Amino acid sequence: MNIILLAPPAAGKGTQAALIVSKYHMKHISTGELLRKSLKQDDDISKEIKQIMNSGKLVSDEIILQLIEKELESAEEGVVLDGFPRNRVQAIEYEELLQRLGQKLDAVLYLSIPEEVAKARIIGRRTCPTCGKIYNMQMEEMTEELCGSCHTSLISREDDNEETFDLRYETYMRETSPLISFYQEKGLLKEIDASLKTEEVFKRIELILNEV
Ligand code: AP5
Repeated sequence: MNIILLAPPAAGKGTQAALIVSKYHMKHISTGELLRKSLKQDDDISKEIKQIMNSGKLVSDEIILQLIEKELESAEEGVVLDGFPRNRVQAIEYEELLQRLGQKLDAVLYLSIPEEVAKARIIGRRTCPTCGKIYNMQMEEMTEELCGSCHTSLISREDDNEETFDLRYETYMRETSPLISFYQEKGLLKEIDASLKTEEVFKRIELILNEV
């Protein structure tokens, strides 16, 4: 099974992807995470990518497609795509890539959420740099900024601030939201209310995936 999580920034794509892969044994591919990992090298390309990410714009399709192709070719199980495709070019390239690999896309889960609810979520987000687990200091009762799974100190992402959120949201509306009708026309889009509690959102996802 191959699925896409399509949603504005901070809607809960990473949170739901982690739940999906633990139940359905799929591979989670987050282009945002792949890019953040690539930033650990201190070269000119990394500096350029970092600047683009902090400005809320999209990294070039060429870089993204190279990353995705490598990940898809090595995936032995189904895939949950988180943060890709993010525009029409990427969506069409992904279709061609799946065709070459003899695979198909099964569903696009559109996590819909009001802008202000997503914005509120970004402020308290913390991420574990070791295992990738995502937390929210404001919405969960946390006294220490330590990962509950591996006890590493949690970090904030550089783009976790209101100003960058606004820019990312603008980019989402302009470049990514047209994919809602793109996948609706193909009969693949399933809309889920992502403003609900994490467990409620996941229950709705389960209902959909059990039918796919
Ligand atoms: P990326 O890392 O993909 O960022 P994003 O799309 O902005 O999404 P986020 O990771 O911020 O949020 P999320 O939806 O995963 O929410 P989360 O689960 O963490 O991309 C970063 C940048 O990389 C882009 O801006 C771009 O520059 C570049 N990039 C990436 N992919 C690209 C591509 N394909 N092409 C070009 N450029 C690309 O949840 C958020 C918070 O809310 C957490 O604290 C969580 O605990 C909490 N939360 C989650 N669900 C709930 C809930 N139901 N109730 C309460 N709290 C919740």
